[in-house]
Amino acid sequence: MIRYVQTCGGDKETTSTTPFDVPLPLTRKDLGRWLKAQGYQRGAEVGVEQGKFAEVLCRAGLELLCVDPWRAWPDYRTHLDQAEWDRLMAVACERLAPYPAKIVRATSVEAAQDVPDDSLDFVYIDGKHDWESVELDIVVWREKVRDGGMICGHDWNLGSVKQGFYRVFTGPPLQVTVADRSPSWMVRA
Ligand SMILES: C[S@@+](CC[C@H](N)C(=O)[O-])C[C@H]1O[C@@H](n2cnc3c(N)ncnc32)[C@H](O)[C@@H]1O
Repeated sequence: MIRYVQTCGGDKETTSTTPFDVPLPLTRKDLGRWLKAQGYQRGAEVGVEQGKFAEVLCRAGLELLCVDPWRAWPDYRTHLDQAEWDRLMAVACERLAPYPAKIVRATSVEAAQDVPDDSLDFVYIDGKHDWESVELDIVVWREKVRDGGMICGHDWNLGSVKQGFYRVFTGPPLQVTVADRSPSWMVRA
């Protein structure tokens, strides 16, 4: 019989005969609680905007690195000027103030340089959605997630997200939150 071992920060360890004691989440709303129930503690969200999903993760009791440049680009959401990005960041900061959330104003690649490899339990990727960015974000952030952690992301409904995903992974996601209009994907690190 296969025995699965879940570890959480070294001394805490549980064993079970199934890979997950808690059924996989069917909606993104449940994802935070599910990650917490795995014994995960610390993760990152790449692409935070107003901090709405970051708050879902934090409310579940998770510590979060919140990575977003909140920057106006010539080729991305051009209807938003820098003043509007500054406003969105202020909204996120206020929303996340009560939680153990660290705001990092930087691009995915810039922020990853200061995060040690294997130091996170999970990452949730929801930055730029063109396939090149999705691939880059996965490649860079999967290194930050420890073995047995979870690599997740938003918008599995988008062809570009699937394309970026399959540039990195050969098999399908472990789970897609099929009950969401914009499903999230998850892969075991
Ligand atoms: C779809 S929104 C994120 C929404 C958020 N995850 C939620 O569900 O509440 C995408 C965000 O990605 C950010 N973004 C764009 N380029 C990025 C990059 N290179 N690295 C990290 N975030 C980026 C944008 O500034 C924007 O706020």
